[in-house]
Amino acid sequence: MKTTARTGTAFLAAGIAALALGAGMVRAQEEMSDDRELLTTVSDHWRAHLLHDMRAGLFVQVQDILAALADGDMATVEALATERGKAHFAKMDPAMMKELPPEMKMMGKAMHLAFDDVATAARETGDPARVAGAVSDLMATCTACHMTYKLNP
Ligand code: HEC
Repeated sequence: MKTTARTGTAFLAAGIAALALGAGMVRAQEEMSDDRELLTTVSDHWRAHLLHDMRAGLFVQVQDILAALADGDMATVEALATERGKAHFAKMDPAMMKELPPEMKMMGKAMHLAFDDVATAARETGDPARVAGAVSDLMATCTACHMTYKLNP
């Protein structure tokens, strides 16, 4: 086949696309690497408790907060966020806390304080953008811990 300017350009484009795909695959592999620390000191009982609380407690609470925020219902945002703030410390079982590494507990504490910041933003500013910003900061504390630890091997 005679290589015209047009087919030459098409080959070049295909080559660039293949390179981009290759780079994308390398990146995907890097992103899938898992260097989280497995929490080996947590018993099956507290492991199940923690996972249940994450999916049926914390995750749902954040979604409820966002739903209230979308409704402009700042009183509900404040109430929901306060439930998971410092007030929640008293509900945490010392037997479970003993099984968690200190650094993880610090991250957990940061999360509870971030819930209080959402409540404060709702009460003191009533500004949806500020409250959304506080929810984003809160979720950064979720992801920080999720990037660091795992309960499931
Ligand atoms: C102090 C650490 C920590 C914080 C903070 C934290 N998590 Fe988790 N979460 C974990 C760990 C560890 C797992 C287990 C992950 C794994 O083994 O793959 C988990 C798992 C989950 C799961 C999956 C549960 C399941 O059934 O598998 C959800 C959902 C979740 N977290 C939501 C949240 C949300 C939402 C927040 C913030 C509001 C949050 N978590 C904050 C440590 C944390």
